[in-house]
Amino acid sequence: MAKVLVTGGLGFIGSHTVVELQNEGFEVVIIDDLSNSSIEFLDRIESITSIRPLFEQIDLRIKSKVKTFFQTHSDLVGVVHFAASKAVGESVEQPLLYYENNLVSLINVLESIQELDQSNFIFSSSCTVYGQADILPITEDAPIKKAESPYGNTKQIGEEILADLCKINKDLKVISLRYFNPIGAHESAKIGELPIGIPQNLVPYITQTAIGMREELSVFGDDYPTEDGTCIRDYIHVVDLAKAHVVALKRVLNGQNISNLETFNLGTGKGSSVLEVVKAFERVSGQKLKYRIASRREGDITAAYADTSKANSELGWEAELTLDDAMRSAWKWEQELRKNS
Ligand code: UFG
Repeated sequence: MAKVLVTGGLGFIGSHTVVELQNEGFEVVIIDDLSNSSIEFLDRIESITSIRPLFEQIDLRIKSKVKTFFQTHSDLVGVVHFAASKAVGESVEQPLLYYENNLVSLINVLESIQELDQSNFIFSSSCTVYGQADILPITEDAPIKKAESPYGNTKQIGEEILADLCKINKDLKVISLRYFNPIGAHESAKIGELPIGIPQNLVPYITQTAIGMREELSVFGDDYPTEDGTCIRDYIHVVDLAKAHVVALKRVLNGQNISNLETFNLGTGKGSSVLEVVKAFERVSGQKLKYRIASRREGDITAAYADTSKANSELGWEAELTLDDAMRSAWKWEQELRKNS
């Protein structure tokens, strides 16, 4: 069985990807430092797939530990690299933590993967690299705008590191996946998003409000130049996103990649406003959500949604689940999570 390393494999997107990799017959070994995840997710993954992934708790910033890990697992055929800090606001407060966590870890993994017989690498990038794009929907060729936050900058620098390395190492095969807004949870409601403290992202804030943990949702601005005045994003179901990683990995494993560094947008191609997301939640949950219009949040762009034609035609992947599916699963997950509290 082909063995794959998933770094950050107990996190939100990572855990869903582990499930999809196992469903497709891959043997998975997870590295996670548990800084923003829970060890309980190992059991939860096992309860979905009936297979317990191998697990090592490693801080990827420590080069010697990374080296030892790769020496022990020299039979890996690829790495799906999620491990990173991801809170935009926190990155503004603690820039050095973000540069160290996201870039030192990446460099350490890349150094080691080049020693393997097969160096296939799937990178977790973000639509944040585009900033407010001039043309919508956003294609992969859209110019990279100056990052709005240290977090966004780590994704841009990460992509640059990969580009520089791919120029001199043609044996290294990289696919960089630029996610739009991942939401939702596995249909089993056994894995999903676990925000620490007050959620910064829209969907967990909605579900926590509905379950009674938050007073009301603040809709950040209704005076944007959009139809209903609220911001537009491309919300993609995390299970669709997870499946794209399996497709990308198979592409490099089968030598179907056109160059040794490829980049794909992962979104649905459809933009939804904040109020449309609220309505979708109300529709699938059958309950009204308490919200108020608040002032704009600093750093928010008006609209971003993906042109997915490259992923559709070259990867042969497209999002299958709808916004309603995602909201339904997010709500089911929130209820499951709070069942005993
Ligand atoms: N929003 C609210 N109220 C909230 C939270 C969010 O109105 O309580 C709005 C935001 O203003 C925005 C939309 O909901 O218009 C989505 O906000 P999120 O925070 O969920 O997502 P972002 O688009 O801001 O951020 C996401 C990822 C980041 C990534 C960024 C790139 O979470 O990791 O996309 O644009 F950097």
